[in-house]
Amino acid sequence: MTALERIEGIRREASEAIAAAGDTATLEQVRVRYLGRKAELPNLLRGVAELAPAERAATGKAANEARQGLERAIEERAGELAASELQQRLQADRVDVTLPADPAAHLGHLHLLTQTWREIEDVFIGLGFDVAEGPEVETVYLNFDALNAEPTHPSRLETDTFYLESDGPFELLNPDTLLLRTQTSPVQVRAMRAAPPPLYVIAPGRVFRPDSDATHVPQFHQVEGIAVDEGVTLADLQGTLLAFARAVFGAEREVRMRPHFFPFTEPSVEVDVSCFQCVRGILPGGGRCPLCKGTAWIEILGAGMIDPNVLTEVGDPAYDPERVSGFAFGLGIDRIAMLKHGVPDLRLMFENDVRFLEQF
Ligand code: PHE
Repeated sequence: MTALERIEGIRREASEAIAAAGDTATLEQVRVRYLGRKAELPNLLRGVAELAPAERAATGKAANEARQGLERAIEERAGELAASELQQRLQADRVDVTLPADPAAHLGHLHLLTQTWREIEDVFIGLGFDVAEGPEVETVYLNFDALNAEPTHPSRLETDTFYLESDGPFELLNPDTLLLRTQTSPVQVRAMRAAPPPLYVIAPGRVFRPDSDATHVPQFHQVEGIAVDEGVTLADLQGTLLAFARAVFGAEREVRMRPHFFPFTEPSVEVDVSCFQCVRGILPGGGRCPLCKGTAWIEILGAGMIDPNVLTEVGDPAYDPERVSGFAFGLGIDRIAMLKHGVPDLRLMFENDVRFLEQF
């Protein structure tokens, strides 16, 4: 066999081994075997000088070309193998972050009050109202004065309102004195100051009163609703509250209004919903209904037509009581939740006893 034939033989054998190498480690072994220091081809190259002068040039050239060709082939194959090995590693390492935890984590659910809050919001958003919020710390001015409350109104007493230290001398009648809002009604004035009519807004939030028994806690939740536009009447209020009552308490419900007094509405009404546990005060199985106490009606909220004094107090000429009118209502989220779910004691809502919370 001539040197040239031998070189060609090595080249072919090595090419096949390179193509067949299935991973980088095998390819490295192939490289050492055919191009390493002790391999035959490099040795042939080193021995070219000892060959007969006639063979020297051709053998040297062939061996050199074979070596370069094999180096290129190895480099190419190494690139391919690296890419496919990376691909395999990525496949094997894949973590599906959308898979549920194992074992599935117990997520719990929203608190009954949050559920009720959102349910009420959804009803009014469906009726075209926007949702606004107001601060929990208010001034005497916005909680009382701007809402037409007489200086002697009993709700201003320290037994009925939590007052906060104010900058100046602490005075219940100082309009700048800070307090924890006792109602969401200050948002009536805030919403009207923020935008001209037509205005359809509800304002849910926390309110505070120094009360504590089975149906009163110092911190509870209200939703204020206001609608101001041209030609808004008490009938619009009734229709709105009827839609609300039916959405929350069932399609069969009726509402009725009883005359009442609030400083900021004139006329003012208390609104009752027809009892959803009995027929005219009598339980289906007979006997007086304990929920409505046999009256067939359950009080759910206070409301009325916004007093012209409140509209004027906003200061924006767009709220001219000669041109626009509006209704306002305020309901207790806690009370709605208690009524709807038969919760006997409001304090259960805040004790975080999971045996209670899990039921809703
Ligand atoms: N702010 C009143 C309350 O807390 C409820 C109310 C709101 C009444 C709006 C009329 C209009 O009792």
